[in-house]
Amino acid sequence: MKKILFVASEGVPFIKTGGLADVVGSLPKYLDKNQFDVRVILPKYMCMKEEYKKQLNYITHFYMDLGWRSQYVGVLETIYEGIHFYFIDNEYYFAGFKPYGNIYEDVEKFAFFSKAALSVLPVIEFQPDIIHCHDWQTGLVPVFLKDKFHENDFYANMKSVMTIHNLKFQGVWDMQSIKNITGLADYYFTPDKLELYGDANYLKGGLVYADALTTVSPSYAEEIKTPFYGENLDGLMRARAHDLRGIVNGLDYNEWNPQTDRLIYQNYSAGHFQEEKAKNKAELQKQLGLPQKKDAFMIGIVSRLTDQKGMDLIDYMMEEMCQQDYQIVVLGTGEEKYENMFRHFAWKYPEKVSANIYYSEDISHKIYAACDAFLMPSLFEPCGLSQLMSLRYGTVPIIRETGGLKDTVEPYNEYEGIGTGFSFANYNAHEMFDTIRYAHSVYVDKKTEWNKMVQRGMQADFSWNASAGKYAELYNWL
Ligand code: ADP
Ligand code: GLC
Repeated sequence: MKKILFVASEGVPFIKTGGLADVVGSLPKYLDKNQFDVRVILPKYMCMKEEYKKQLNYITHFYMDLGWRSQYVGVLETIYEGIHFYFIDNEYYFAGFKPYGNIYEDVEKFAFFSKAALSVLPVIEFQPDIIHCHDWQTGLVPVFLKDKFHENDFYANMKSVMTIHNLKFQGVWDMQSIKNITGLADYYFTPDKLELYGDANYLKGGLVYADALTTVSPSYAEEIKTPFYGENLDGLMRARAHDLRGIVNGLDYNEWNPQTDRLIYQNYSAGHFQEEKAKNKAELQKQLGLPQKKDAFMIGIVSRLTDQKGMDLIDYMMEEMCQQDYQIVVLGTGEEKYENMFRHFAWKYPEKVSANIYYSEDISHKIYAACDAFLMPSLFEPCGLSQLMSLRYGTVPIIRETGGLKDTVEPYNEYEGIGTGFSFANYNAHEMFDTIRYAHSVYVDKKTEWNKMVQRGMQADFSWNASAGKYAELYNWL
């Protein structure tokens, strides 16, 4: 039996800010239990929902050195859906209304968390063969491991994997402060290790020191070797190309299942969806105060409202989109200019636009179930889960061909009668709008074709079945 430890900054159902949490919370459940004992370690954030905080059992605590500081490390645990989760407690680091977001605090918070995640292992008597780290917040884990921990027999044989969910976020801060915080020697702060253009870079540390690297789709694995997508680390990605794999994310098909989902108005399946989706649409229109028009082309957006997600293209085309027989339903938070842009259009065109500028699991499920199409014109997209949720719920994705979007949505081909969505290649607002108009025309004029496409999407398999096997292969290879 191989032992695997996931170290991450978020995981469902405990804490979520984006797709990372979906992956960390679901992948462990889908790895073969006869082969792997997978456990997860997360921070115990004060902003975690009370219902989950209550479930955690205190195991122990101790003090750990971090640079010149000595810090309290509390350890809690719970078993959720068969998976063992550990939580690191420290009220100084993990207080606040959101898990993270201020980089000057976050760099110390995650240096602490990364070192603590390693330090607790003998205490909880779990000796993993592989430590699987996710994103910059855990970039220092492979570094600490190779630094002092490896000298200790308990850690000597542990391998590490670093998964890039988003190369844009790297955990960058000035070198002197990071030396001071981490207590790592000057040796580590050179351009072949943690330094990037004069600053300390956590993700780079992980990418240099981990034994294997992965990212969340094959296309993104290729893209990040180029300057456009490489975020100044494309050279390193090329240098480590042999150790880098792209494994597309899966969805937790138990949680995301239109047949059983209790958050939607009406359940349905790939075999029977037309009237049921119409019912979901009518109910959502009612709930959001949109006119209950059956034929309006309802386009959903559930997203962080940032440049990554192509919001500037939408901004550019919004006025024109509001002249069409569309209803645009947005759920998201992010950059203020985009939040206000959607608020503005909802005010100007209350019959066309519903702007829901907040976070809600509940509404997100209802949007995936109710809409006709889902718009995701990302500038870059490591994998993307929203388009997978849309496919699963029979909501046709309209995407830009990049990263995981390109790998998971097959473009509609009216001559061959194949495809699960609509796509465009260039990051261009008019190209996006043309694609939306094309989708709309198929929706209006070729209903049978449209419904077949919906069905193909619902039948496509984006569960963890295939991808969990690829992680298993990687673990075995290591
Ligand atoms: P990213 O992780 O880059 O934000 P993904 O597509 O991988 O993008 O995952 C986004 C996840 O977050 C999806 O599960 C999506 O439904 C969810 N999500 C995004 N914004 C909201 C919101 N405002 N309310 C509820 N869920 C949201
Ligand atoms: C990141 C990426 C997203 C991916 C998610 C989970 O947030 O932006 O594309 O789906 O991580 O891997």
